[in-house]
Amino acid sequence: IERTLILIKPDGVKRRLTGQIIARVEAKGYDVVELKQVHATRELLEAHYEEHVGKPFYEPLVEFMLSGPVVAVIAEGHNVITGFRSLAGTTDPTTAAPGTIRGDLGRDWGLKVQQNLVHGSDSVESATREIGIWFA
Ligand code: GTP
Ligand code: MG
Repeated sequence: IERTLILIKPDGVKRRLTGQIIARVEAKGYDVVELKQVHATRELLEAHYEEHVGKPFYEPLVEFMLSGPVVAVIAEGHNVITGFRSLAGTTDPTTAAPGTIRGDLGRDWGLKVQQNLVHGSDSVESATREIGIWFA
C-alpha cells in the first residue's frame, strides 16, 4: 500500500490547525501510521528540500521551516500521494481551490516565502526519500 510524507509546517502548528488538517486526511479515508512533532534541524531541511537549492525562495523557506515545530505524518492508502496533494490544493494559498486545506485555511501574509500550511510528497520516489529523512 502506498505511503506519503505529510508535514504540517510551522504556520499550521502555530495557528493550531494540526487537528483540523489531520481530521481531513482521516475523513478522506487514509490511515495515519506515524505521527510526531519535531523541531527540524537545518541539516534535515537541507536534505528534505535539496531539489530547491539555489532557487530564490530556498533560504527563506529553510528559515521558515526552522521557525517552529513541524508535525510529520506518514499517511497510507491507495493513491495517497496524489490524493493528499489534491486535498492540500495548489502551492499558492491565495488561489488554491476552496475545499482544499490551503484554499480554505491559507492566505498570503505578505512574507518572503509562501506559508502554505502543509507539505505532501509528490511521487513514490520522493515519498520513500522523505520518509527516510523524517522517520530515520
Ligand atoms: P510542498 O508540498 O511544500 O513541497 O509544496 P509544493 O510541492 O506545492 O511546492 P514546491 O515543492 O514547488 O515548493 C516548496 C515550497 O517552497 C512551497 O510549498 C512554498 O512554501 C515555497 N515556494 C515554492 N515556490 C515558491 C515561489 O515561487 N515563491 C515563494 N515565495 N515560495 C515558494
Ligand atoms: Mg514539493
